Amino acid sequence: MPLASLLLSYLLLFYQFLPEGQHLCRLSFTKKVAQSLYKLFVKLKMADVKDVSRQKKYYVKFTKAPFEEDTTHEFKGHRNLSKDDMPWWSMDKKHEKGSRKSVSRNLCGFLNTGMGGTVYCGIVDNGEIHGLKLTQYQRDHIVGAMHDLMSRYSPPVDQRRYKVKFVPVLGASLTEEERLEMSKFDTKEVVNEEERKQPHKYRTPHYCWCDKDMMAQFEHGILISDYVIEYKILPWEPDGEATGGLGSLLNLHPIHADEEGKIYFRRQASLIQAEKRDRPKEVFHCTQRDGTKVSPFQIIFQLLSWLLVIMMCDRKLN
Ligand SMILES: *[C@@H]1O[C@H](CO)[C@@H](O)[C@H](O)[C@H]1NC(C)=O
Ligand SMILES: [Zn+2]
Repeated sequence: MPLASLLLSYLLLFYQFLPEGQHLCRLSFTKKVAQSLYKLFVKLKMADVKDVSRQKKYYVKFTKAPFEEDTTHEFKGHRNLSKDDMPWWSMDKKHEKGSRKSVSRNLCGFLNTGMGGTVYCGIVDNGEIHGLKLTQYQRDHIVGAMHDLMSRYSPPVDQRRYKVKFVPVLGASLTEEERLEMSKFDTKEVVNEEERKQPHKYRTPHYCWCDKDMMAQFEHGILISDYVIEYKILPWEPDGEATGGLGSLLNLHPIHADEEGKIYFRRQASLIQAEKRDRPKEVFHCTQRDGTKVSPFQIIFQLLSWLLVIMMCDRKLN
């Protein structure tokens, strides 16, 4: 009898690992337990990761960012999103800026730790806020390019797992009130809705029509606002709609390869690239939050502890 219930419990546990629709019945009870446990687990693990930038409505030009580069924050002085956006000289090691890397690798790293994170374009390496001059057309371009990039990942990334935000960068000479006022009405430019419908050109290092439009405006002395582009990858939610709801303690989340077929993991403030032979054949793969593999021992240990909780809850209910 105890053996039978043990086997049954294991069976239920494994049901949790199957993507939605692959099994006939999902016991909502074990799922709920798993979810609340997972939430607790995430809370404990994430306790030291404070989202300091969340309330930020604007940045002040040439000041230091109120946070540093770490596991969930990455600064970029440029806005070259994918490998196809990289100018020729970024491949040239002799060039002074030859070490430029695309934003995409970092997004890939944030996706694959399951913890998420934000790339800030317009904040340079030492944390100083410079901002990037962007018109409404260019901001449309950037959002479109991000959707395009995420659709090229393998597997493709659901739109609910990321956000693109433009945070205005304002002059230091303004008062706090003026800045708040300006950040509410950050765009005073004239936008032609017809022009706005023109298709943008992604996956090329060459200028799109929106960039040429911006340069023309700039030459005519038209003021163009500065922004920090925040590409935010949301933390993996096992019970989130976007994820297929695996509900598991093992942090089973999809591992994405970027547009070049490469797999990155974020570790502290840097990236590690997975070896080719590590490339998982299945979509779901066991990794810990720092990207290291979960050992069979850990899996068994987690299953056992999970089982214990389920049995305890069972007892309470009966
Ligand atoms: C790449 O970055 C440079 C600025 O360093 C910018 O002028 C150029 O438009 C960017 N290209 C793309 C396609 O994002
Ligand atoms: Zn464009």
